[in-house]
Amino acid sequence: MVEIRDRQLQGHSLRVANYTKTFIQFLLDQPSYNSILNKADIELGFYSGLLHDIGKISVSGWILKKNLKFSPHQLLNFKLRIEKLKNKIISKKFSEFSSDTSKETYVKDLKALNDSIKQINVHLNNLLLLVNESIEISSPNNIKKVLKQIDVFKNLFNVSDDLLKKWELSLLTIDSGSLCEEEMSEIQKHSESGYNILKDMSWPSHLKALPEIVYSHHERINGSGYPRKLKGDQIHFVCQVLSICDIYDALSSRDRVYKKAFTVEEIQLIFLEMVKKRELDGNLVSIFIKNVVPIFQSSKDIYSKVA
Ligand SMILES: [Fe+2]
Ligand SMILES: [Fe+2]
Repeated sequence: MVEIRDRQLQGHSLRVANYTKTFIQFLLDQPSYNSILNKADIELGFYSGLLHDIGKISVSGWILKKNLKFSPHQLLNFKLRIEKLKNKIISKKFSEFSSDTSKETYVKDLKALNDSIKQINVHLNNLLLLVNESIEISSPNNIKKVLKQIDVFKNLFNVSDDLLKKWELSLLTIDSGSLCEEEMSEIQKHSESGYNILKDMSWPSHLKALPEIVYSHHERINGSGYPRKLKGDQIHFVCQVLSICDIYDALSSRDRVYKKAFTVEEIQLIFLEMVKKRELDGNLVSIFIKNVVPIFQSSKDIYSKVA
C-alpha cells in the first residue's frame, strides 16, 4: 500500500525484506552470532522488512513524493510572482512614455521599452535558473548567487517587491535533502505510526517482536536515532540487522529519483562514517558488505535471486 502511494519507494520493502532474510541466514552460520539469533529470526527479519515502512501510509503523499526543496505548487507560485512583477515593471515603463506624440519620440520610447524587456527577461531567466538549481541541490554558493541576482535586479529596475519570500529562502537553504524541519518530523513519525498500526494485531510467537522492530528501525546504537533515541541492546538485534539493509537500499536504490544511486564503494565510505560515529555495529556492517551485498550486486532483479 505504501508503495502504491510512493512510486519512488517501489520495491524498497521487498528488497529490505530479502536483504534482511539473507543477512540473518548468513549470521546463523557464524559462531559469534548463532547464540544471538535462531532460525525463526529469518522469518521475523523478512516480515519486519516487508512492513518496516508501513507507517508511511499516514504521511502526506506530497511529502513522500517531494524531491525538490519547492513543491510544484510553491515553484509555480514563485514563477507567477516573477511574471507579475515583470508585467508591473513593463506597464510602469509604458506609462512613462513621453507625452510628445511625434513618431520619432514614440519609436525611441518603444525601442527603449524593448531593450528594457530584453534586460528584464535576461535577469529573471537567470534568477529562475539559479532558483531551479537551488531547489535541486544544496549549495550555499548558489544561494549567494540567487541573492546577488535579486539585488542586482531590484537596483536596476528600482523594485521594492519581495522576489523571494522569507520562507522560500529558508526552504532553499535546507542543508541536505529536500525536506524542511516540519516535513522531516512528519516523515519521522512513520516508525511510531507503523508500530501503532501493528501493535494490537495477534502475531505468532516468533513474530511478536515485529511491531517493536518497526518502531525502532531508525534508531542507532549510539542513541542518535529516532523516535525514542534507544541505545545499543535496547534495539532488537534483528532490527540492527534490518537497519543496515534499509540504509543500504536507500543508498543503492535507483527508484529514489531524488537521490542518485551510490556505488558500493561510496556506500562503504558512508557506512564507515556511521560506524566511526557508533551509529551502526562495525562487525555487522563489515559482514554485510563482504558477504551479503555481493549476493545481490550481480543481479539486477533481486526477486529472482531470493525466493
Ligand atoms: Fe523507515
Ligand atoms: Fe525503509
